[in-house]
Amino acid sequence: MEEKDFAAHLTATMTGSALTMLIGLGHRTGLLEAAARGPATSAGLAERAGLQERYVREWLGAMVTGGIFTCNAGEYTFPPGHAKFLLGDTASNLMPSLLTLSAFTGILPDLERSFAEGGGVPRSAYGPYLETLGAKTGDSWKHIYREHLVDGFFGAVPGLTEKLTEGARVLDLGCGTGNAIAVAARAFPASRFTGVDINPGVVAQAEATNAELPNAEFAVGDAAELTADPPYDLITAFDAIHDQDRPDVVLRRIRGALAPDGLFFMVDTNFSSHVEKNVGNPLAALCYSISLMYCTTTSLAEGGAALGAMWGTEKASEMLADAGFRHVDVLGSPRPQNCIYVCRR
Ligand SMILES: C[S@@+](CC[C@H](N)C(=O)[O-])C[C@H]1O[C@@H](n2cnc3c(N)ncnc32)[C@H](O)[C@@H]1O
Repeated sequence: MEEKDFAAHLTATMTGSALTMLIGLGHRTGLLEAAARGPATSAGLAERAGLQERYVREWLGAMVTGGIFTCNAGEYTFPPGHAKFLLGDTASNLMPSLLTLSAFTGILPDLERSFAEGGGVPRSAYGPYLETLGAKTGDSWKHIYREHLVDGFFGAVPGLTEKLTEGARVLDLGCGTGNAIAVAARAFPASRFTGVDINPGVVAQAEATNAELPNAEFAVGDAAELTADPPYDLITAFDAIHDQDRPDVVLRRIRGALAPDGLFFMVDTNFSSHVEKNVGNPLAALCYSISLMYCTTTSLAEGGAALGAMWGTEKASEMLADAGFRHVDVLGSPRPQNCIYVCRR
């Protein structure tokens, strides 16, 4: 990149960071919701949202010049085609990710200390920031599962939806708040689903939200100590392997808990293990940043392997082979940042 282009690139980077903060502010103050109700002047929008016009006007200036809103003759518009990426109950809504990103600023002092002293930032340190903002990783995935789990993810593997329709024993490892099982247990009533997570808080939430499902159950457990009797036909892990403190142990346990013709279905990030191969991937810098600010440091805090979210397909394939999986297919997924590893015992 030439010097003059680099200066522009850096300015655009700072603009993105500032707009991220202001979009989060728009969410918390209700401005985005209010603006989505239709075009308005700054005074009209301030009144609609119950806010101070002078602040709203300056915020609108950033939204318009930042390409989020449009403006014509003093009226500001939040185009529906933009609003669907920041509002609403769909997988397109990027707000949970945006808020999670802003929440990381709370742990920056601890992270900076870890750069100098080693160790890491424990998962418990993130709680207050994520809760204050009302953002949970599960929020993003809830919509993704609803829209893509059955056809997009399971449908990518020939014969899998037929197997689930007939009835299978399924374990979802690192199930979080049980959003994947909530969709799968309804779609495949003849199958039995067990969700396991190490965090008792999310398991309690999963149990409460899925209480009416007769074919779903949840338990607190450590994947590194997984056993199964009888074994499972399918073990799924959505975004749950790269954060493991002992991923090699977990992968071996998973293989050992599968029936002879069982499948391990691992959804993880879709990047290369080699940084130079990720240059030009528009999602890579964001994912390295999240990996540093959460995945890597939380694992180091526990003395874990710190694979990070950017462990990449080469490293993942190598580890799956080391765990004994004899055949692994890496498939595309409905989301460009994720791929599916279909692993046979
Ligand atoms: C990024 S979240 C993904 C949650 C869920 N699969 C989803 O898609 O919403 C990773 C989950 O793995 C769980 N986890 C981490 N280490 C674990 C372990 N050793 N055993 C079981 N669960 C674990 C975490 O508590 C967390 O809920």
